[in-house]
Amino acid sequence: MSEQPPAVELVGITKTFPGVVANDDIHLTVRRGEIHAVVGENGAGKSTLMKICYGMLRPDRGTIRIDGREVHFRSPKDAIAEGIGMVHQHFMLASNLTVLENVVLGSEPARGGWIAFDEARRRIRELSETYGMPLDPDRRVEDLTVGERQRVEIIKVLFRGARTLILDEPTAVLVPQEVEELFRNLRDLSARGVTIVFISHKLDEVLEIADTITVIRSGRTVATVKPDEVDAHRLAVLMVGAELPTPETREATVTEHVSLAVRGLGVRVEERWALEDVSFQIRRGEIVGVAGVEGNGQRELVEALIGLRRPDAGTIELEGVDVTAWSTRRRREAGLGYIPEDRHVWGLLLPSPLWENAMLGHQTEPPFARGAFVDRAGAHARTEEIIRDYHVMTPGPDTPALALSGGNQQKFIVGREMAASPKVLIAAQPTRGIDVGAQAAVWEHIRTARAAGLALLLISADLEELIGLSDTLHVIYRGRFVARLDPSRVTPEELGSYMTGAREAAA
Ligand SMILES: Nc1ncnc2c1ncn2[C@@H]1O[C@H](COP(=O)(O)OP(=O)(O)OP(=O)(O)O)[C@@H](O)[C@H]1O
Ligand SMILES: [Mg+2]
Repeated sequence: MSEQPPAVELVGITKTFPGVVANDDIHLTVRRGEIHAVVGENGAGKSTLMKICYGMLRPDRGTIRIDGREVHFRSPKDAIAEGIGMVHQHFMLASNLTVLENVVLGSEPARGGWIAFDEARRRIRELSETYGMPLDPDRRVEDLTVGERQRVEIIKVLFRGARTLILDEPTAVLVPQEVEELFRNLRDLSARGVTIVFISHKLDEVLEIADTITVIRSGRTVATVKPDEVDAHRLAVLMVGAELPTPETREATVTEHVSLAVRGLGVRVEERWALEDVSFQIRRGEIVGVAGVEGNGQRELVEALIGLRRPDAGTIELEGVDVTAWSTRRRREAGLGYIPEDRHVWGLLLPSPLWENAMLGHQTEPPFARGAFVDRAGAHARTEEIIRDYHVMTPGPDTPALALSGGNQQKFIVGREMAASPKVLIAAQPTRGIDVGAQAAVWEHIRTARAAGLALLLISADLEELIGLSDTLHVIYRGRFVARLDPSRVTPEELGSYMTGAREAAA
């Protein structure tokens, strides 16, 4: 087409952290109005590159050009002024405020310090209509679904005049139905000239939505391709030089021994039952999967199981002992492990070194404790083990958790919980944000632990993972287990129809 310069051009970007070259002479050219995907292994340097493009980090070397002009960003403010906006993987909304307040928050106030709320409300309505993203400006963010919150983040960025939108793993937190909606929105945005750069580990999604794909490996650009020139397999090979894994569970290892028995479990939230009459068992060597659209009681189920929430009905038995009234710590010590859904809230102390993070939740047990004392050597040794076995990319146990890439943080948490050899493990979204190669490694660890007798409750938005790993599969809908399905027979489409309530329960 014409002589229009690229919307964004990153030329020879290099960025070093202590002991790590995160970006090593990266080149990225994004045309105006296109949807450009950036893919690569965990730790490849994707988030670093995006943060540079948004003025959050300054490159050691290299040039940024916006619409053909060289720019120097000292902060995100400078990037915003050039029409760049970013939606972070961890939403940064204040949940007790309204959509309107969140969108306006941090923007330049108009007219001598007054924020023109009426005008802002009008503008939000206009943006949400133009781009087909329904949003009520006066609703509180805490009442919104994850998909709706993401919409608020996008509108917020557009409100500030962004013409280029950077999305870091936007689909990781969404269920399939929400992903489709996001993609519709992205297509609309791009049709109206908004440029989109996004990061994803889900290669089939990348192939579906992207106009152009750039592959990054170990901080370097290795290829820029069109989706019709490649397939998921070829992309995976470009990323990691490996085959695409499948999560298939081989021969069953389920025993007769019941490790976890849940009967009639119910949790009330305000006036309604968020979880109602849920009963199931997990036997030694069994993986029980729970499928469901987010917000259908999964959180309440997990919180009741690990002891963060006192159930209003029912009992929980761990290894034959009623633990319904026990504290979280007591349950952990009795062999209950937990991989939390939100790694920043429950999983990690970001400023602390990895060896301290390795102890979190296990500080009273060996190898971390000797009597009442912390065993530093034991903690270091265990941390080294986790880093090695779970392929965590990091200089070592003394590195703070915040210096790890998102996927490597997740691998570390999974490793920590598995290394504690729990009898029962509650895993919420264990492979979220993990690249295809590392996901295969986690699946392998799960299978090994299962063969050794682990009882696992797997809650996942990844239907392929659920179907592939589970021995038994339940669907949760409006707080109830509405269907029990055979993972060796069910298809993702069928599962989806139970999850959305389109189909009623069958044995
Ligand atoms: N603040 C930091 N301090 C030290 N090292 C860092 C920091 N941020 C990132 N790194 C390192 O830079 C490298 C690239 O990290 P980055 O977050 O860009 O990876 P990524 O491609 O986004 O990975 P993921 O898919 O896991 O999110 C990693 O080795 C990471 O440990
Ligand atoms: Mg990242």
